[in-house]
Order: sequence, then structure tokens, then C-alpha cells
Amino acid sequence: MSTPTSTEHGATGAAGLEAAVAALESARRATLALTDADDAELTAQHSPLMSPLVWDLAHVGQQEEQWLLQAADPDREPVFHPAIACLYDAFEHPRATRTQLPLLDATASRRALAEVRGRVLDALERAHPDDAHSTAGMVAQHEFQHDETMLATHGLRTGAPLLTATPTPPGRPVPAEAVLVPAGPFLLGADPVAEPWALDNELPQHEVHLPAFRIGRVPVSNGEWAQFVDAGGYDDPRLWSTTGWAHRTAQGLRAPMTWEPDGAGWWTQRRFGVVRTVDPAEPVQHVDFHEAQAYARWAGARLPTEVEWEKACAWDPATGRRRRWPWGDDPATAQRANLGGTALGPAQVGAYPAGASAYGVEQMIGDVWEWTSSAFTPWPGFSPMLYDSYSAPFFGGDHRVLRGGAWATAAGAVRPSFRNWDHPIRRQVFTGVRLAWDA
Ligand code: AVJ
Ligand code: FE
Repeated sequence: MSTPTSTEHGATGAAGLEAAVAALESARRATLALTDADDAELTAQHSPLMSPLVWDLAHVGQQEEQWLLQAADPDREPVFHPAIACLYDAFEHPRATRTQLPLLDATASRRALAEVRGRVLDALERAHPDDAHSTAGMVAQHEFQHDETMLATHGLRTGAPLLTATPTPPGRPVPAEAVLVPAGPFLLGADPVAEPWALDNELPQHEVHLPAFRIGRVPVSNGEWAQFVDAGGYDDPRLWSTTGWAHRTAQGLRAPMTWEPDGAGWWTQRRFGVVRTVDPAEPVQHVDFHEAQAYARWAGARLPTEVEWEKACAWDPATGRRRRWPWGDDPATAQRANLGGTALGPAQVGAYPAGASAYGVEQMIGDVWEWTSSAFTPWPGFSPMLYDSYSAPFFGGDHRVLRGGAWATAAGAVRPSFRNWDHPIRRQVFTGVRLAWDA
């Protein structure tokens, strides 16, 4: 799978294009590794929430052709002919229905991907680097996103393990008190020069004044979540929103997804085909927005807004500037963040002191996506990018914003300004919780 890359994707010109090509190649290695299985495995529907893996496989190639080849030259002879390409239109075909489509089989999909990629690399060689690298970066990020989606599909499948985990650094005890972020202005959103791969919803950058708030130094752990369960948190409607309680009741939720009582007062979890004891020191994962909100109320806290989250992550009050990453402008490494999809789970709380933000907040990038209280809306002055249905159709819908990326996210597909979104009931995503308080 993809590993954090030291290639500077903030670069422009030839270096920027080189970084985009490296990201395309890294994403493709992950895609092929995640679909290195027999046809029965790849065409199976592991959950109505997810596509068969063979759909994601061809979809990334179809999208690559659309944005890097067809957009520039609509008259060329396509690899994905219109009758095939439309099978990979996510708006036309909801995930639950994709196994019924006459999809390309895995062999034909891989052949089409390779054909598109060969033509793309040729076209990028001839293109002016300043024009090409940001669209190529967008396409690489799209493939990285589907790699993460395929990991979520793998996470829902039953049967023998197909993936093996690489180790993460151990956690450490972390001071329990929350971190104060004093009141004051900061710049929200991506600087398009420093972040040429910023997607449309991260722009335009603009100044925002926030009152003081406090935010959890680290994400909420499994140990803390188990106390919420033991305290009857799942049985107390006063902790839940009306919608959240209705959902909790209809679904019979009583613990995070994949948790099962071990019969001795603790929990096991199934993770990529392996049943393991829940590690109390790891950040909780696979909880939905409603559960996150109920937990926060039980803890006497609330969820951060996405604007608070981004300030705590990226703002440096000493310099009055944004950092490219919480720890500074240097690239992501295995000592700073758990990214890249190989760990198959979050590292323990406290595992990345070197990844702390200017305010001292840890593990904001990587490990688990963090639910925020914010609905997904455009920043003032939003304008859609070339792939104009990436964000805009989802603004104002039934979504909540998730921040920071997970262990399953590639370094090239996340940054402090990156905004993910999902329905508040979703838990198959690698989601967790960080608390916040009014100061
Ligand atoms: C940004 C993760 C919400 O998977 O629905 C992939 C990303 N958009 N192909 C999604 C996406 C089109 C998107 N999320
Ligand atoms: Fe897609």
C-alpha cells in the first residue's frame, strides 16, 4: 500500500509534476495490492454500503481518463467507451446496486487501467507542468480516496485475512487536561501556493475569528469508550439527539462497530479477518456521528467545529502563519503520523509526540477521522474545480465533516485543510472522536 512520501507535493512546475506522477504511481500500487484476489472475491458484495472491489478498480481508471485525457481532448478514441464508462458513474448507480451491472471483469479492468495510465504518462510528458500537475494531483488523490474506500470494504468482509498489518510506535501516557486555543483570528482553508493539490472545498482561504476553546490533546480511546458503555451511555436517551436516539434504537447499537463482549467483562473486535482483544490504549474507531455526540455529552464536552479543529491543527500563534502539517512544514514520516494504509488500525494514544501541533494537540493527522459538529457547506467564495461534482452536490445535504485522515489515508490525500464528509449514521469509515469544550 502507499507509504508516506517525501516528494514535495507543494512544489510547482517540473517538481510538482514529478510529485503528481509519484502519487499516481503510489496510488496504483495500493489499488493493485487491494485488488490482488480472485474474481469471486472482487465481485462479491460484502455490504450494501460498499461497491464490489472490481467496481472501484475500474472506476479509478475511468475517472483518470475522464479528467486527464477526455477533458483536454473530447474527440479522442476513449479506452472506456461511453457505454462502459457510465457503469462507473457514482451518481447513476448507488453502491448497493453495482454488483448487478455488467462490469468489466478484473482482468479487463486491470488492462484498461494500464492503458489509460500509459496514455496519461505520455500526455503529462508533453504537457506544461504548471498546467498539468494540479489536475494530476487531483486524480491521484481520487485514486487514494478509493484505496481507502477499498480498505473499508476489506474491513467489512468476513473470511480469512487477506491483508497483514505493519507495526506502529507504542503510545505513552498523555497529560489528561485539554489544550487551550486562545481567542483570535486565523486563516481558514488552504493556501493555493503552498497546497496546489487543495480541492475546491478547501478554498478560498479566508480569515476567521474564533472565541477561545479547549480541545482534547489526543483522540478518545477505547478504554474511555468502554467506560461510556459500562455507564449505560447507549441506554440513556438524554445523551442522544432525537435523530441519534431513533437510529441507535432502530439499529440496536450498544458498542462501536465490530465490538463483541468477550464474556469476561471486556471486548473483542474483528479487524480485517482477525479477532483480537480491544486495546484500551488505541483511539476508538468505527463510531458514527450520533455515537460521537452522545459520548461527548456524557463526558461533559462537545464535538469541535471543523473550524476549531483546523485552527488547533494548523495555526501557529507564534508566527501568525499556517503550518503545512501540524508539526511544521516537513513531510509526513512514520515518526509523525500513522498514514498510508499499512497499519490496518490506529496507533495507540500518545504514539506521535513528534506530530504535535503548535498548540500541542496530537494525532490530528492520521489514525482516525474525527467527527466534527459541522455540516458540509462551502466556504464563502467557493468555486467548483474541473471535477465539478466532487463537492458541490453534497453541500447542504445530510452530512457531517470529518477531519484529519485515518491510518488508511495516504499522506498525499490529506492535509490540515482537507474536508471529508459522510452521513451521520456511517461507521464503516475509520472514524473516531476528539472532544472540545467552550473555554
Ligand atoms: C470525499 C470520501 C466523501 O468517497 O464519497 C471518491 C470521495 N468522490 N469519488 C466519497 C470521492 C468521488 C468521497 N469522499
Ligand atoms: Fe470516485
